[in-house]
Amino acid sequence: MEPRPLAALCVVLALVVAAAAAVPAEELETAEAMSSYIVHVAPGHAPKLPRRGLHTTRAYASFLRAHIPVEMMSSAKPKVLYSYSHAAAGFAARLTSRQAEHLASVSSVLAVVPDTMHERHTTLTPSFLGLSESSGLLQASNGATNVVIGVIDTGIYPIDRASFAADPSLPPPPSKFNGSCVSTPSFNGSAYCNNKLVGAKFFSKGQRFPPDDSPLDTNGHGTHTASTAAGSAVAGAAFFDYARGKAVGVAPGARIAAYKACWEAGCASIDILAAFDEAIADGVDVISVSLGAVGQAPEFYDDLTAVGAFSAVRKGIVVSASAGNAGPGEKTAVNIAPWILTVGASTINRVFPADAVLGNGETFTGTSLYAGKPLGSAKLPLVYGGDVGSNVCEAQKLNATKVAGKIVLCDPGVNGRAEKGEAVKLAGGAGAILASTEAFGEQAISSPHIIAATAVPFAAAKKIKKYISMQKSPVATIIFRGTVVGGSPPSPRMASFSSRGPNIHAPEILKPDVTAPGVDILAAWTGANSPTELESDKRRVKFNIISGTSMSCPHVSGIAALLRQARPKWSPAMIKSALMTTAYNMDNSGSIIGDMSTGKASTPFARGAGHVDPNRAVDPGLVYDADTDDYVTFLCALGYTDEQVAIMTRDATSCSTRNMGAAVGDHNYPAFAATFTINKFAVIKQRRTVRNVGSNARATYSAKVTSPAGTRVTVKPETLRFSETKEMLEYEVTFAQRMFDIVTDKHTFGSIEWSDGGEHKVTSPIAITWPALATQLSEM
Ligand SMILES: *[C@@H]1O[C@H](CO)[C@@H](O)[C@H](O)[C@H]1NC(C)=O
Ligand SMILES: *[C@@H]1O[C@H](CO)[C@@H](O)[C@H](O)[C@H]1NC(C)=O
Ligand SMILES: *[C@@H]1O[C@H](CO)[C@@H](O)[C@H](O)[C@H]1NC(C)=O
Repeated sequence: MEPRPLAALCVVLALVVAAAAAVPAEELETAEAMSSYIVHVAPGHAPKLPRRGLHTTRAYASFLRAHIPVEMMSSAKPKVLYSYSHAAAGFAARLTSRQAEHLASVSSVLAVVPDTMHERHTTLTPSFLGLSESSGLLQASNGATNVVIGVIDTGIYPIDRASFAADPSLPPPPSKFNGSCVSTPSFNGSAYCNNKLVGAKFFSKGQRFPPDDSPLDTNGHGTHTASTAAGSAVAGAAFFDYARGKAVGVAPGARIAAYKACWEAGCASIDILAAFDEAIADGVDVISVSLGAVGQAPEFYDDLTAVGAFSAVRKGIVVSASAGNAGPGEKTAVNIAPWILTVGASTINRVFPADAVLGNGETFTGTSLYAGKPLGSAKLPLVYGGDVGSNVCEAQKLNATKVAGKIVLCDPGVNGRAEKGEAVKLAGGAGAILASTEAFGEQAISSPHIIAATAVPFAAAKKIKKYISMQKSPVATIIFRGTVVGGSPPSPRMASFSSRGPNIHAPEILKPDVTAPGVDILAAWTGANSPTELESDKRRVKFNIISGTSMSCPHVSGIAALLRQARPKWSPAMIKSALMTTAYNMDNSGSIIGDMSTGKASTPFARGAGHVDPNRAVDPGLVYDADTDDYVTFLCALGYTDEQVAIMTRDATSCSTRNMGAAVGDHNYPAFAATFTINKFAVIKQRRTVRNVGSNARATYSAKVTSPAGTRVTVKPETLRFSETKEMLEYEVTFAQRMFDIVTDKHTFGSIEWSDGGEHKVTSPIAITWPALATQLSEM
């Protein structure tokens, strides 16, 4: 895993927090260790009380006394931490493993799930997205002034941050919003909150050591994501001289409610669920979650983000979440439930090049946000970290005698990027060149280094290593070229770190759904942490530039807010559908959006249905809708038990009495994924229903199919005729293996496009997964 900058930002954001997040909050000192669990209570067994809070918490304390034998309580007394009534039915408590096991066996309990830590996954972007005040979605939505975006993250830093200042041009916040700002010694809710920042709350019971119980963002991630989604316009924003310009959130009129569930050690699932519970009760319209499970995505019933999101979506709240920064490997995407809008990360048309120039004249373009004194054109001695004490450039290990005054080439891994620069600086080095991992291909990650440093792609680092090994006295310098905006390299391109499909739990549901800007994003930053997050870095900045799916997610949350206002009657599924079917798949040079990890075209397992296109999403023509009932049918089709389904629905659903024979592949998703398990001329059929939301009730759409290699895909009927009385129409897709084609790829891709011959093109990607070639050949 790549260390800090990227990941940390994304999942809460994704990478940084990962290491710390793996430590479970267990109390090892007591004879019977206690840890935190979520107890999902069976339908009809949750206490029925008017308001959540203290009463429900007491009721759950009695629930525990009634259900755990006295002798099991004597050594360790359980403690109720949260009660949930909006995002789930049940509570979080500290329990011994014996108590937890016992509770799980009680009939009034559906499941007992151990608390787990999640990890965190940036303004040019509005114009890159095509947003304009005088036309398109921004105008149609009035900037989303009636919309509240709940941001579950590391809190918010509103002090002296114009992105969150009161905006006199905005009307009062929507009256349906019931949230508020709490006040703590470090957070004066009445001073900091206003008609832009309308909510600020914190959830810390899953943390052993919350440093300061307050919604104040001492990390920076939450401040960054919130301002990306809905920050007020700030003229002349920049990170030092980088990316200077007007910084503004995607939905400049939307209000922000911050729910802090992420702390230094990561985000505890019981805190995340409490944040969902509160955000739903407060009446937010969109929830933005730039965080996710560490490692493989949990099953939906074990994934509290999926559980909380299910309850939110059921209330009409759009939940947009980051796909994770664990790419480019397969099946790395998290937050993959069909009711969640899952966002991958891609580049914009702006880079921060910093060239490594060698003594022999060879030049390798890297990337950097170094803002200190430049090195100049005179070349300095160049060494490889592996030859001077530490190939990855760890502090204490680099030999100062051999490093002083030199530029050091550092391998990736072990410590964070900014930390490598710090280590070289500590050892008296003059500069650093950071190599990227091979898996990252063409990508290197920018960091706001405290030493003259640049990050170069793997292949460049390899050549620099070779130069070092061949020369008697290798020398180099680094030329920082500042901010470059334009058509080269092409954009967007998929970030190597962006987590990929297929969907590990429901391969028929293509994930991620879409991609959005997530590389080198400028947005607001906390005053309580340095831009590198290093202790030794004493700089404090109002804006920082960071990367991750944590950054792309709030862009989509902002667009969802604009759509929520422009199209108030649309369900979360319709909003998602509009974003997916209008997304684009070509970069600004006219090629399919590239993938930096391979240097080739990306696939829908990386970019989903494509890059979001807000101005087209407001008028998609047709939409694929889905409601709670459809999601339940989906869960039943997955083979979940009634208890597992009830964790989400909180009612006594019985899978056996509904939609017998429904297939996961028939879930009304705006994308297609099918898996062939055998190679015997197999045929897979999937059904869909589309609704006409175009301005013309009478419309005729025809299908244009691009069949994935090795298949013949047909659509029945091939023409859909909508009228006043026929707003919804069904069709069936057949994926048939071609008789004598041998497919050597693991996956092949295509698309189905419904067109009304005019402005509307409703496009869905198709992803086919093939059995291993050996299996195919033996069966032919
Ligand atoms: C919080 O801010 C309000 C409004 O600016 C001010 O009147 C109040 O004294 C502040 N409270 C504290 C504890 O500083
Ligand atoms: C907000 O509070 C009012 C009064 O308590 C209540 O009627 C309303 O349903 C609440 N709104 C939401 C979205 O919960
Ligand atoms: C550091 O390098 C110098 C010069 O080669 C050498 O004399 C010294 O022993 C090295 N120090 C360590 C701790 O390896």
